[in-house]
Amino acid sequence: ASIYLAGMAGRRPRVPVDPDRLEQAALRKMSARAGAYVAGGAGAERTMAANRAAFDRWRLVPRMLRDVSTRDLSVELFGRRLPAPLLVAPIGVLEMAHREADLAAARAAASLGLPLIASSQASRPMEAIAEAGGRNAPRWFQLYWSVRDDLAESFVQRAEKAGYEAIVLTLDTTLLGWRPRDLDLGYLPFLRARGIANYISDPVFRALPAEAATAERPAAGLGALGSVLELLRAWPTAPLQALRSGEALEAVRKFIAVYSRPNLTWDDIPRLRQMTRLPILLKGVLHEGDARRAMDLGVDGLIVSNHGGRQVDGGVAALDALPEVVAAVDGRAPVLFDSGVRTGADVLKALCLGARAVLVGRPYVYGLALDGEAGVRAVLENLLAEMDLTLGLIGCRSVAELGVDTLSPLPNR
Ligand code: FNR
Repeated sequence: ASIYLAGMAGRRPRVPVDPDRLEQAALRKMSARAGAYVAGGAGAERTMAANRAAFDRWRLVPRMLRDVSTRDLSVELFGRRLPAPLLVAPIGVLEMAHREADLAAARAAASLGLPLIASSQASRPMEAIAEAGGRNAPRWFQLYWSVRDDLAESFVQRAEKAGYEAIVLTLDTTLLGWRPRDLDLGYLPFLRARGIANYISDPVFRALPAEAATAERPAAGLGALGSVLELLRAWPTAPLQALRSGEALEAVRKFIAVYSRPNLTWDDIPRLRQMTRLPILLKGVLHEGDARRAMDLGVDGLIVSNHGGRQVDGGVAALDALPEVVAAVDGRAPVLFDSGVRTGADVLKALCLGARAVLVGRPYVYGLALDGEAGVRAVLENLLAEMDLTLGLIGCRSVAELGVDTLSPLPNR
């Protein structure tokens, strides 16, 4: 209500409320390289466009004359009641948007009681992010499974110790997508170096022999290392600054050699189960067959996602994949959703199609770029406010009332 009243009183918000203007304002503020990295997608960006277009093919159907004077957005997830079905997506290298990076995002999420999913490739160590959020803040950890099992296990153990409540294993990024905006600017090694805080703070990573870095990993798509040092000198990343330049180069080399595991298969999932008692979610599932396989393996949750259209160009829109995954899971585990969520109405559509909760990605990075912690908070508050208003306006008092009754496909879709 306060956001609405401020607007009626003619006061301008801290960050633009309209998602397109938010993006434009942030891109004006960010460097060309950082902006392109956040805003860009794979190939001709057709999947990214499809993610948005998919929302336009569904219409909310308002129902009238129901008492909507009190509304409740809360949902339960893994034994915890959340104030709203909204999570802050794992995003690596946030330092490119703001020097407080993940710490600012963690504080903003915690102030609203929303879970932050900290990225493996965060710009700050997971322990520092946990501390920034505070003791009772809900937080999950996103894992990129290293080619070294001992490193993956070390990450999971650190996450448990730091109070993370779930492990999100991202499946869709075993190889980095083909991203023309980034390739044309030639700065991937530089950017990636801003996301290695969890690695250089890890005892297993530090103990890896230097030879680990010499392994050829052309598939990782990280390009020339020479430029890393040059760029680090121009714009040093905080955790790397603590290292001497020779060490920094070796750390970046080792990271490139070990951060991903392109040969990961379904057979590896039980090993993750053995590493942790925390709930395990798989992020990046888009096919009903994969959803069933995950259920057979006892996975605790799925996140339907195409990484915001950053991996496969011409891939299926995430929202279009949601109903079949929900049907395949058949209530056995919560199905979460991301990719293309920009408005409160978008969130409600995904919930109508069976998502238990949604993650928001790029918009909060834009808030971060514009105004740090306050900017992230403003973006999240705007989403929550629109969700709450729209829920009431379509005649629902709680998210449990959302479903096929409140959504209709466009004719001739
Ligand atoms: C991401 N995403 C991502 N996912 C993940 O599991 N680990 C990561 O480190 C990152 N890093 C990352 C960086 C940037 C700049 C972006 C834009 C995205 C994907 C992210 O979690 C989420 O799936 C998408 O951002 C959702 O799409 P929207 O909301 O950006 O359209």
